[in-house]
Amino acid sequence: MTRADALQRISELREQIHHHDYLYYTEARPEISDAEYDALMRELRELEAAFPDLVTPDSPTQRVAGQPVDAFRPVAHRAAMLSLDNATSPDDLREFEARLGRALPGTRLAYVCEPKIDGLGIALLYERGRFVRGATRGDGRVGEDITANLKTIRSLPTLLRGALGGVPELEVRGEVFMPRADFEQLNRGLQESGEGTFANPRNAAAGAVRQKDPAVTARRPLDIFLYHVSEGRELGFRTYSDTVAALREAGFKTNPRTEPCATLDAVIDYCRRLEADRDALGYDADGAVVKVDSLEQQWRLGSTTHHPRWAIAFKFAARQATTVVQAIEVNVGKTGALTPVAKLAPVPLAGVTISNVSLHNEDEVRRKDVRVGDTVLIERAGDVIPYVVQVVMSKRPADTVPYVFPDRCPVCGHAAARLPGEAYWRCLNTACPAQLKARLRHFGSRHAMDIEHLGEAVVEQLVDRKRVKDFADLYTLTVDEVADLERFAEKSAVNLVAAIQASKTRGLARLLNALGILMVGERVASLLANQFGTMERLLAASETELNEIRGIGDELAQSIRRFFDDETNREVIRRLAEADVEMAQPGVETERPQPLAGRTFVVTGALSSLTREAARELIERLGGRVTSSVSKKTSYVVVGEAPGSKADDARRLGVEILDEAAFLKLTGRA
Ligand code: IVH
Repeated sequence: MTRADALQRISELREQIHHHDYLYYTEARPEISDAEYDALMRELRELEAAFPDLVTPDSPTQRVAGQPVDAFRPVAHRAAMLSLDNATSPDDLREFEARLGRALPGTRLAYVCEPKIDGLGIALLYERGRFVRGATRGDGRVGEDITANLKTIRSLPTLLRGALGGVPELEVRGEVFMPRADFEQLNRGLQESGEGTFANPRNAAAGAVRQKDPAVTARRPLDIFLYHVSEGRELGFRTYSDTVAALREAGFKTNPRTEPCATLDAVIDYCRRLEADRDALGYDADGAVVKVDSLEQQWRLGSTTHHPRWAIAFKFAARQATTVVQAIEVNVGKTGALTPVAKLAPVPLAGVTISNVSLHNEDEVRRKDVRVGDTVLIERAGDVIPYVVQVVMSKRPADTVPYVFPDRCPVCGHAAARLPGEAYWRCLNTACPAQLKARLRHFGSRHAMDIEHLGEAVVEQLVDRKRVKDFADLYTLTVDEVADLERFAEKSAVNLVAAIQASKTRGLARLLNALGILMVGERVASLLANQFGTMERLLAASETELNEIRGIGDELAQSIRRFFDDETNREVIRRLAEADVEMAQPGVETERPQPLAGRTFVVTGALSSLTREAARELIERLGGRVTSSVSKKTSYVVVGEAPGSKADDARRLGVEILDEAAFLKLTGRA
């Protein structure tokens, strides 16, 4: 090949690869397969190897290039990278608007809102559309040159398209971040290989952009949103919305949640909606940024030395807080598992007051080295339960001692043990009242026997007075006995006894879940109920028989058998039956053949004649099994309306696909 031909082909390949990078990393809608993409890259690499003088810094092959550095070069920002003023309430936002009104009397104001990404501010420099330099914010005036690291971010265009591609010198600003799912995966990997993990995505992203070796950064899943063009007015943009549109057209990734808001009420509504959605964003956002849309107005408003006057950050309620560990207590679960719990000085966190946080198990306490007297950083990610992120070591008092896990049950004083391979210490006393209380609470819980009014206070008293020693005792309770309990009015006693009686007809699946058999939760319980239909048949099933059921492995089969071999448990079941507690699963014909035994199904998309859940029950009732992902072992993929990638997986793996009609035929419903 001549040099001229190579040059021609190289530029074609680069253009195609840039285009596919954009589709894949920025738009998330690839048009070619990974293999086709790899082939383009391979061809480009080979040509560049044959003609090394044709390699340019913006070539896709140069994403991960450059030698490790000892220190980053300082970069003076052309204009200071400012901070943002904060608002924490709608009133603060109204005050912001009032300030704007005073500064620009008689003008109409309109806004644009977008998520405030909890990442790292960066500034990118492009010369005639070529990415030439990227810098950290630093102290706002001088940052660090991290060009080589930024180039590894695949959604960052190295060549711009459209009008911005022709600008002699263009500076754009944005935020580098690590998507939450990628962060979690990275941490899992680091943990498995015994390396230190990151406390949050922001720290992980900060660590990645300041890596001395770009090859390491390249393995870190970073992403970037751009939100600012310096000198936008000089470039002819009239509004921030125009600017964002131009950024998008140039190939930059801009935030899809960017929204124009014509009034402050719309702004407040946006902030409220975004806060409600914050967990669905896929990345950490700590607020919303509200910006005056008109660039002319922005220019007239100007900036303080700290922040622009035309923008404000509405901060979401904090989900991290620090507080002091006042004590570490140990709770006893329904299987005797001992769970350490840190008692905290109460602290508000994302709308609730936190005074307890689970430390999970001995290893976790040891790993985090949480001690009584420590100040801890706690976090509530989403609406989930708070957890300890880390101890604030700088605040550790001099006299703390490492926590020693007790080897006795804190409630009954019986010996506790941690069996090999188990994460938990367990109280070995099956008659432990704390275990019984936890078991009873579980028995009455919503997904088990669903006994309304069987709250913690009742259970406490019933056990402490030795009136209830097992599940069966519940069904012999009289209204008088319950009314006799402390803080129990006649009416509530009637309600509780009625609720207990009503729970008799919940069916076998719920009963099995309620019994609290080790490793048997809602799913396994319903699997067993559907397979055996009655308690009698289940009691008679051997370990081998149990083990033969898809979805029930050795350990589980053993645990089930061990439970039913225990004479005390059999006695309780006998007495439950005597009390007329339903021991069969309604709708399961026990002697019916199981035509789908041994077959696995994946159901994807919406079916018109039954819900996915109903399809699952149907399959399981006929002896089949349902899994969530397609593998070579899957027997059938049932495809409804708007199926997801699972249908593609099935085609790729050659798994038989059933449409709804074929599925109904197979299951005898049509
Ligand atoms: S605009 C000149 N928009 O928040 C005004 N900033 O606390 C520039 N940030 O330094 C800021 N998301 O690093 C803007 N959508 C967004 C943002 C955002 C995150 C960061 C930015 C800024 C810091 C201020």
